[in-house]
Amino acid sequence: MKTIFSGIQPSGTLTLGNYLGAMKHFVELQEENHCYFCVVDEHAITVPQDRLKLRDNIRSLAALYLASGIDPEKSTLFIQSEVPAHTQLGWMLQCVSYIGELERMTQFKDKSQGKEAVSSGLLTYPPLMAADILLYKTDIVPVGEDQKQHLELTRNLAERFNNKYNDIFTVPEVSIPKVGARIMSLQDPTRKMSKSDENQKAYISMLDEPKKIEKKIKSAVTDSEGIVKYDKENKPGISNLLTIYSTCTGETVEALEAKYEGKGYGEFKQDVANAVIQTLSPIQERYHQLFESEELDDVLDNGAERANQAAEKMLRKAKKAMGLGRVRKKKK
Ligand code: TYM
Repeated sequence: MKTIFSGIQPSGTLTLGNYLGAMKHFVELQEENHCYFCVVDEHAITVPQDRLKLRDNIRSLAALYLASGIDPEKSTLFIQSEVPAHTQLGWMLQCVSYIGELERMTQFKDKSQGKEAVSSGLLTYPPLMAADILLYKTDIVPVGEDQKQHLELTRNLAERFNNKYNDIFTVPEVSIPKVGARIMSLQDPTRKMSKSDENQKAYISMLDEPKKIEKKIKSAVTDSEGIVKYDKENKPGISNLLTIYSTCTGETVEALEAKYEGKGYGEFKQDVANAVIQTLSPIQERYHQLFESEELDDVLDNGAERANQAAEKMLRKAKKAMGLGRVRKKKK
């Protein structure tokens, strides 16, 4: 049995990209592994957040985890800020990271570009992410493709700490799905689908109602060739829709290409929309039951307790390895 850890930021409603690239796989992984899934709210405040919206998004994300099939009997679901060891180890790992390597992170460059006021938290975000993972002796971290660089840094920090202080951290492996690791924008299929996109037609929110999903997929940018074929270079829009269709239904891209041979984009897009609606509708139904429920609070209380227990143990080891705190003298 392996230990799995992954986290999602509560910085807006999740997109279909978050679901197909990450959450869907979490649900599969929990069957045979020891899993921790986290609402990483401390990561979300690296950019400005509205206090009340953030509170709402945290609860909403926790409800979405459960609605998608995370089973609290099998997995530990918790909120990052309810487990103080994350920021404590995060600080210690900041002291092991170099400014140069943090400045090289693509996500930092993207998010800070053209901004006048960039928080230092945006720069020191990766050591906090490393702390999230290393606290739990994580073997595998399932994420979408955009997190690969952060995972490489996590591995480097773990190895650096182990060599410099004491060999206490498990160096984690990254797991990226073969299909669906990078769901693209519906309006500009050369860019990643993102919840922070200004154009709402560019992404499907996990809570979009069926009519809206249909409308967004029907207006997705494609090409004028009229052939349903996977070709990422020349047909990024159609390739993205094929990926979405395939990950929603489990049918292979090749099988879908054959199915739509000689058929136009109209029929294809309608079927993609139906596949997405069928994937999200049952999740949405459970979500609405869970959001206001006490059950959700019970799950999160329990999760925080279990996560605190495991994380505290590792934090004590890390403090000892670095020489923090003190050892009590025996009374004479
Ligand atoms: P976040 O919140 O941006 O995204 C959560 C997960 O969704 C994946 N993802 C996508 N996958 C496919 N296509 C897309 N368009 C797409 N957009 C997002 C992400 O790769 C991610 O797996 N830094 C992380 C959160 C984090 C974390 C961690 C993850 C904090 N600590 C520890 C793993 C382990 C982030 O911002 O993800």
